[in-house]
Amino acid sequence: MSLEAIKYERGSLEILDQLKLPLISEYIRIRTIEDGYRAIKQMNVRGAPAIAIVGCLSKSLTNQKQVDRKEFEDENLLKTFVVDGFNRLVSARPTAVNMTEAAQRYSQVDSWLVRGDLKASKTRLLAKLESEMEADIKTNKLIGDHGAEEIRKIVGEQVTILTHCNTGSLATAGYGTALGVIRSLYRDKALYHVFCTETRPYNQGSRLTAYELVYEKIPATLIADSMVSAAIKEKGINCIVVGADRVAKNGDSANKIGTFQLAVVAKHFKIPFYIAAPFTTIDFNCESGDQIVIEERSPKELTKIGGKRIAAEGINVWNPAFDVAPAELIEGIITERGVFKPDELKNQMNVE
Ligand code: MRU
Repeated sequence: MSLEAIKYERGSLEILDQLKLPLISEYIRIRTIEDGYRAIKQMNVRGAPAIAIVGCLSKSLTNQKQVDRKEFEDENLLKTFVVDGFNRLVSARPTAVNMTEAAQRYSQVDSWLVRGDLKASKTRLLAKLESEMEADIKTNKLIGDHGAEEIRKIVGEQVTILTHCNTGSLATAGYGTALGVIRSLYRDKALYHVFCTETRPYNQGSRLTAYELVYEKIPATLIADSMVSAAIKEKGINCIVVGADRVAKNGDSANKIGTFQLAVVAKHFKIPFYIAAPFTTIDFNCESGDQIVIEERSPKELTKIGGKRIAAEGINVWNPAFDVAPAELIEGIITERGVFKPDELKNQMNVE
């Protein structure tokens, strides 16, 4: 059975608490949009697509609770309620575009509002919110298949691949983006080995990706972030694939801190560096990576491990959660619509 990070059925939403993995596997109940906001902010759930899905589903729960309340017996109040809820969710974490993209879609009320029929509007809105999970899994499988095909073409049938952060079932509704590509390579018997980085400071690699790779029995080795160049040289890594939180129109791609240096190192070794992400991660309103807002997180993520202090008291700390890999270092952006060179993205802007 594949790992189930988000469990939803009408009226009930539970998420696997990613702050406790891999030692404890425990689900938390999300009852309201405020619970959803907190779980995203505290990173009980993380990963750009999973953030958006939990946001949408927490919205659907709040909708159901309030569906019969009198104040929604007015079209404008219902619209305001939807838009305000999404604005609150978007503010939890700024870099990942997926929540913003969902908020923009639902703010265009014509996609769910049935004029003059509030009951039908509420039903349609609920069905749309609930369909987000299934849609994400479909997207991820296509990303996986396009990515595997591309990498087999460029690298061959013995792929030793490196990935960073966590982009698997825990970061999405299931299957994963960059980890989905790895899964598809494994299924196609083209994967020799995976190296996953620890991903300091928050350790998504050692805590979550390593957990998923062991769970799926995919041959893999964990390394510290500082070992990447040595591992490429010594262990025959011939490709790098990572996810993205936001891709600018020119192809610059924001992803977990450390991604930029991986792209630089890949260039040095002349191995292909790929981004794998849903098409909706491309932000056509953002011209280049310079415009991407990078979230800065608490210094405690660096100075403490498991609540125990490891850094000298009094030291200054800088803790950006993401960085931007420049387009010129990216071989291809793998999406459910196919693989694009960074400079091809602008031509996709108005393609439905
Ligand atoms: O801070 P996180 O753990 O939310 O960062 C996650 C990443 O950087 C992922 O690579 C990205 O969101 C893509 S997840 C499919």
